[in-house]
Amino acid sequence: GSTLQAAASESGRYFGTAIAANRLSDSTYATIANREFTMITAENEMKMDATEPSQNQFSYGNADRIVNWARSNGKQVRGHALAWHSQQPGWMQNMSGTSLRNAMLNHVTQVATYYRGKIHTWDVVNEAFADGSSGGRRDSNLQRTGNDWIEAAFRAARAADPGAKLCYNDYNTDNWSHAKTQGVYSMVRDFKSRGVPIDCVGFQAHFNSGNPVPSNYDTTLRNFAALGVDVQITELDIEGSGSSQAQQYQGVVQACLSVARCTGITVWGVRDSDSWRASGTPLLFDGSGNKKAAYTSVLNQL
Ligand code: XIL
Repeated sequence: GSTLQAAASESGRYFGTAIAANRLSDSTYATIANREFTMITAENEMKMDATEPSQNQFSYGNADRIVNWARSNGKQVRGHALAWHSQQPGWMQNMSGTSLRNAMLNHVTQVATYYRGKIHTWDVVNEAFADGSSGGRRDSNLQRTGNDWIEAAFRAARAADPGAKLCYNDYNTDNWSHAKTQGVYSMVRDFKSRGVPIDCVGFQAHFNSGNPVPSNYDTTLRNFAALGVDVQITELDIEGSGSSQAQQYQGVVQACLSVARCTGITVWGVRDSDSWRASGTPLLFDGSGNKKAAYTSVLNQL
């Protein structure tokens, strides 16, 4: 294949990117995005603060811009994200207890219902595990409503859109020997054993020199897949430049391709200048839209 999406599809996988609604009017950006990618994640527009700015008043303008652009160009959409401790609307941030639990479930139900039939995969819950060595849950207002909040969110999402794949998504879960990875693994194993509706696990894959691509990435992906879920790389970016960056990208692609149930890879933005990493160059296209060495290594590896 001569594009990322064409090359990925040769093994039945997808290649995706995060899209910002306000960049779609930039023709260089839109041209690259349309040419190279086939799975689209809204970078911010489907998060809780964007879709429910006032309690029970839903706002889908920017999210719809992205969903409509994707669908009209024949692409699929990864919904991101229904429940998360971060980017909550102000009204939710200080809520607790039963009222927060119900507000969260209402949000999951309303948003998943609104988009029913249009979302390939939902990130139902994002970043619920703690960093460090505990392997346990992250403290958050949602976690304080009870440890079962995650499965409650998954059940609500399944009821609202039975056709969407439902994913748990997190970062720093790439290295098999990390406690956080083991914590998420235990949760997924438990969910599968009890019939909690979970279909996939997303690995954000934000890498830098302090958090490099682990050499056991394929082991991690394979072990999760063996639980009976699909796995995806969902927010890939790698700090650096030149051949060292290209080599690390290649390692991620290689790990995914070595696992049958690793169904796709999404990079977190189009050009370096679009990245959330303000000062870095972590993506596959430079600020002018030129293909970087990392692009070529990914394309050749796919
Ligand atoms: C980031 C966006 O890229 C930024 O524009 C925003 O300011 C903050 O969120 N993990 C996630 C993504 O799941 O939603 C985050 O996106 C990056 C880390």
